[in-house]
Amino acid sequence: MKSIGVLTSGGDAPGMNAAIRAVVRTGIFYGYKIYGIERGYRGLLDEEIIEMDLSSVGDIIQRGGTILKSSRCEEFKTPEGREAAVEILEKYGIENLVVIGGDGSFNGANELSKLGVHTIGIPGTIDNDLAYTDYTIGFDTAMNTIIDAISKIRDTSSSHERVNIIEVMGRNCGDLALYSGLAGGAETIVVPEIEIKSDEIVKRIRTTQKRGKKHSIIVLAEGAGSFVNGAIGLKNDLMEKDGVDVRITVLGHVQRGGSPSAFDRILASKMGNRAVELIIEGKTAKVVGIKNNETIDMDISEALSLENNFDEESYEIAKVLSI
Ligand code: ADP
Ligand code: F6P
Repeated sequence: MKSIGVLTSGGDAPGMNAAIRAVVRTGIFYGYKIYGIERGYRGLLDEEIIEMDLSSVGDIIQRGGTILKSSRCEEFKTPEGREAAVEILEKYGIENLVVIGGDGSFNGANELSKLGVHTIGIPGTIDNDLAYTDYTIGFDTAMNTIIDAISKIRDTSSSHERVNIIEVMGRNCGDLALYSGLAGGAETIVVPEIEIKSDEIVKRIRTTQKRGKKHSIIVLAEGAGSFVNGAIGLKNDLMEKDGVDVRITVLGHVQRGGSPSAFDRILASKMGNRAVELIIEGKTAKVVGIKNNETIDMDISEALSLENNFDEESYEIAKVLSI
């Protein structure tokens, strides 16, 4: 009987469970034996491998996190580590592996494919930092978590006529800050892709203050910290230059949890299903994605070579709308 292994790796993301469910159920539908590999590549090297059936993915589509657990594993980055992984996969008769994770995890999958394992990647990360796909699983849910926080902080910001800095995740990608800032009506959005000085932020605050809006929300991407000396540097600068009262909220890991949105569940279900179809077609070293609302696939190496295109149009719209 042919078999498929599935693992989640790197930072977890809401919707990973829906993707696992889709892989397991589609695989079983087409007659494959399915193995869940716990704790990502670490668990693979530690042989944390369990057989999965239809009910092992019951009642998980609505749950955040990943039932398979996730981790980061340095040993897997070494050729010896990967050779050991291949031996373990061979021992279990696992010739296909679905890797749900971000670019690091995809690099690992690409390396494994060079050793003969059929690998397919599914993009699971809240960062939306993979250029080949319009969306990664978890991004939409994280964005909704952020706009909920922005709305709540805006209430108190408005009452106290303060400036509130909200720091969001995203590594070197500004998408979480950009789109949650646009959706949350942020007065200023600071992203790694576009340099902005604190003087310009002060100018924007003064302009809005002149027309009577005394509070201001600044969404700061964690990766853009160097432009403004981080949230604390920006706070000190604003207080010094403008005398405004500033508070900081670092949203942190709250952005990684929670029940996945409908969008993420549907995305994960379609991608998990497509990953198994690619295996059936004998494909390897591919990643699944979504472009213009169509499920697509691409060679992992090509996908990883594409540069992220920052959506400057949306950034400009957000600027215009927040005057
Ligand atoms: P993400 O997949 O979310 O980007 P990481 O960058 O932490 O997360 O990568 C997850 C894991 O993928 C790493 O801990 C490592 O085991 C594996 N990995 C990352 N980069 C490579 C690489 N170049 N070669 C082999 N494995 C890698
Ligand atoms: O890649 C997802 C992510 O949440 C990033 O946005 C963030 O920089 C990082 O992971 C945090 O990693 P950890 O959970 O290891 O602190």
